[in-house]
Amino acid sequence: MIIEQLEEPLPGSILPTLGGSWYTDPDVFALEQERIFSTQWMCVLRGDDLPAAGDYRLVQVGREQVVVSRNRRGEIRAFLNVCRHRGMRVCTEPAGTARKFQCGYHAWTYDLDGKLVAAPNLTKMPDVDRDAYGLRGVAVQEWMGYVWVCLAPEPPSFTGTVLGDLVTRLGEAETFDAWQVADLRLGKRIAYDVHANWKLIIENFMECYHCATIHPELTEVIPEFADGWAAQTYVGRGAEFGDGVEGFTVDGSAGVTPLPLLTADQERRYFAVTIKPTVFVNMVPDHVVVHRMFPTAVDRTYVECDWLFLPEVVEAGTDVSRSVELFDRVNRQDFEACERTQPAMSSVAYADGGSLVPAEHHIEAFHAWVREQLG
Ligand code: FES
Ligand SMILES: [Fe+2]
Repeated sequence: MIIEQLEEPLPGSILPTLGGSWYTDPDVFALEQERIFSTQWMCVLRGDDLPAAGDYRLVQVGREQVVVSRNRRGEIRAFLNVCRHRGMRVCTEPAGTARKFQCGYHAWTYDLDGKLVAAPNLTKMPDVDRDAYGLRGVAVQEWMGYVWVCLAPEPPSFTGTVLGDLVTRLGEAETFDAWQVADLRLGKRIAYDVHANWKLIIENFMECYHCATIHPELTEVIPEFADGWAAQTYVGRGAEFGDGVEGFTVDGSAGVTPLPLLTADQERRYFAVTIKPTVFVNMVPDHVVVHRMFPTAVDRTYVECDWLFLPEVVEAGTDVSRSVELFDRVNRQDFEACERTQPAMSSVAYADGGSLVPAEHHIEAFHAWVREQLG
């Protein structure tokens, strides 16, 4: 009897992924809400989304609904959207402009700094400390033109976590300054309601082993992606545009005005950074694409994607549609892949997880981080 000799894989070629239940078990998701989304700095909106004093938006951070607003001094503030009287939601519209925040139940009223300033009969309760009964504050940081909030009473170092991920990918944080992301303007925002676990979206973003299969437009612009090695596989390296490609657009045609501070080795290249747990930053010569994810259930993730350009490009009403269309197609291709993966996560065939090939081995560091957070 002849037994066919199968070619052995190289030792160590395959590393395991997380098991399927990490993507389907509501208890895992509850733990992630508690130990990741409630402890890390979460990027919730762009500062320009709140242009004037009193402007506010509601955002979901872990299990909490947070009001992010701008006070009279122009500073960003964030509060839990819970009345300190008997707990009604104070703000009920997803966004708006307020002079004060007044609860619709018994009319407790808070100023733009969250302090309790009025309530029926409050003057007859002189012992009530109006700061102590103010809306519960949430830590805020502004960076890259975005508002980041952290629910933890003692947030982790922003430098050690958010900027740490930037350094891990780019080699040094200063490299990032060339794109001047804080000074760019929103040219387009598209929201996606993805029926997949947030970790599948991160894993997908971190690798390019799938690029040749599902991203025909992207691999036309960046032919090296067809080989499967993501820009994120290497420290500090950007993936090079193909010969004859003029810009990071859906058809490789020229983009808009390039960002002025880029160095020669940042031009004609695509850089990508994953900032754990829920942010992707993509940098190309004339724009930056920022993804913010809001995990809403173990199998569902709301994603907002911003395309940022130089202010003069946006103010002039320049047509940026070819630039937007490239990453919008990439997003739809990626999210469809994630949505087709999600249902299989509960199969017995995936109970012990799947396989990471060498071009995906760097994803293991993300899995290790998740395991570490959940303890
Ligand atoms: S619950 Fe808000 S005022 Fe009573
Ligand atoms: Fe992709």
